[in-house]
Amino acid sequence: MPDNVRRHKKYDFVNQVLCFRDFPNYSDCRGTSMNSMNSNYSIRDEIRDFWSDRAATFDESVGHEIFSEAERNGWRRLIRKHLGEGQGRDALDLACGTAVISHLMHDTGFKVTGLDWSDAMLSQARAKAKKRGTDIRFVSGDAENTMEPKESYDVITNRHLVWTLVDPPKAFAEWFSVLKPGGKVLIVDGNMGKETWVKGPQKLWTKVSGNQPASHMTPAMMARHQNIRSRVYFSDQMPAQAVVDLLHKAGFEKVTVDRKLSDIHWAQARKMPFLRGLERLVQDRYAICAVKPK
Ligand SMILES: C[S@@+](CC[C@H](N)C(=O)[O-])C[C@H]1O[C@@H](n2cnc3c(N)ncnc32)[C@H](O)[C@@H]1O
Repeated sequence: MPDNVRRHKKYDFVNQVLCFRDFPNYSDCRGTSMNSMNSNYSIRDEIRDFWSDRAATFDESVGHEIFSEAERNGWRRLIRKHLGEGQGRDALDLACGTAVISHLMHDTGFKVTGLDWSDAMLSQARAKAKKRGTDIRFVSGDAENTMEPKESYDVITNRHLVWTLVDPPKAFAEWFSVLKPGGKVLIVDGNMGKETWVKGPQKLWTKVSGNQPASHMTPAMMARHQNIRSRVYFSDQMPAQAVVDLLHKAGFEKVTVDRKLSDIHWAQARKMPFLRGLERLVQDRYAICAVKPK
């Protein structure tokens, strides 16, 4: 049996056990369990519903919304370094979620469109933009098939999207097509499948205290997350080089990997429980910038 199928079966079992333990009436346990009951319910539906179920509380977590000026400045620095000042140029923030990156792009002077396939995420994004008085356009759509016109954007951004793509080669071809010649894509993600040495202290803490490591997900949501993770393209690790290779195959050039993100990660870690903060500092998180040839 291939590794990823075995892993899926294991997570499916774990998921159902956790769901029964946490929600005996099954009312808050959709995702995988519904999936196994309804064969028309695809992995893409599952991913979208998973994020929709997280939309209401997404911005409460450090690492999602921004909780310090130090972190905000770190993000602005990263955007300016790779994309320059916006100066009214057109930006497409894919899988915008609650529009954290969309707002940073807007602050940097871009004319921003935020795209996501979760209506629940988009309504949080719209409410935030209204509250902040920002004129960001939001559209519902699939990052692998945006339906946006060809060669219409100067830049594309996305954070924490690539790891959850079902078909990244298709997505990268799509991004290449909607970018203008000379346009750039900036990806922010990481190889979160790679265990760090912090797992050791975390296990020790669980053993000694009887508490699980601090997490922004309930055990049932964590199990859904793991289950989805086991079936997407990057079901195990996502080393930056694998993403770089796919970007080259899609036609991008000048592909650079930037791991100088410590200003952002320090600012986040200071707001997190100790072991989670430590993990944030040692994980292999990266930004990748690539250019569509002129
Ligand atoms: C981890 S959240 C990241 C949100 C936002 N980019 C951020 O960093 O704050 C992942 C988001 O990706 C969206 N998403 C995942 N796959 C997608 C796809 N193929 N098309 C559109 N949105 C997608 C989800 O709905 C969710 O809002």
